[in-house]
Amino acid sequence: MNMTLRQLTLFKSVAEHLSFTRAAVEMCLTQPAVSIQIKQLESHVGMPLFEQIGKRIFLTDAGRELYAACQDIFSRIETLDMSLNELQGSIKGRLKLAVVTTATYFTPHLFSRFLRQYPDVNIRLNVTNRNSILERLANNEDDLVIMGQVPEHLNVQAHQFLENPLVVLAPANHPLANERNIPLSRIAQETFLVRELGSGTRLAMERYFDGVELGLKVGMELGSSEAIKQGVIAGLGISVLSRHTLTLELAAGIIKLLDVEGFPQMRYWYIVHLSEKKLSLVARTFLEFLITRTRDVLTEAEKTLVEAGMHINEPHPHIMIAK
Ligand code: PGA
Repeated sequence: MNMTLRQLTLFKSVAEHLSFTRAAVEMCLTQPAVSIQIKQLESHVGMPLFEQIGKRIFLTDAGRELYAACQDIFSRIETLDMSLNELQGSIKGRLKLAVVTTATYFTPHLFSRFLRQYPDVNIRLNVTNRNSILERLANNEDDLVIMGQVPEHLNVQAHQFLENPLVVLAPANHPLANERNIPLSRIAQETFLVRELGSGTRLAMERYFDGVELGLKVGMELGSSEAIKQGVIAGLGISVLSRHTLTLELAAGIIKLLDVEGFPQMRYWYIVHLSEKKLSLVARTFLEFLITRTRDVLTEAEKTLVEAGMHINEPHPHIMIAK
């Protein structure tokens, strides 16, 4: 068969999007150019790879076989690329990361600093909630993942690299905003906004309140930390989030942390990979960078905010970094 890698790349893109148009955009080609290449590929294979039903296209059985082969071929090429880089001792190439949504409040500073030091690394980032991260981990889809709690049912190696305090937040004008040592029984009378099912923050919050045998009055379920903060500001209820999500709102004085008995609940951030995974040189370098450099990088990020005129009234995440 005389198929070329270029044709296989195009085929993979069409198969993943199930759209010639989107594949053309992804590959910076015109749609007819993609169609011609796929036609040629079909004539090499001797069978149609796609079938059209109405406006939608689907892979045929032959298309599915070819797609499975493509995955093997491209993953082998990627591994080869990594091994060659490793032989040269150069820190370059792809780094596939997945992080839980909450970690996006501080990880960009770490990526930025890492890329300044290793400009030939190409970070591919997937941001999703805890449940999807667990699935990705089980399917070995990433080099490394960053999450707030070590998975219980997977054989992984987890490195703790940063503290992650869970705090109780309320609008600045909340009647409890200036109270000290608020009993849990009092807080249980408030309405709580919660993250979506599958969120690590929600799991941690539920485990904590179940552990102290306190039923919460749950108001709305909101699908992100951003939505929760807006809900709290709007007076829909109070909530529990990672302290990392609140830097800007605390500095602006529009959200206050409540001094609730038992809070902050101290949790940690972990960088995790499957135990059997053979980490590439880039992944090993990033892991080491995270463990050794997080404190400096976040301290520097905080300085930039202060220089930009922001008043950090509350302890900023950097002072909570694990020693
Ligand atoms: P989440 O995860 O963004 O899914 O809530 C945070 C965590 O695991 O601590």
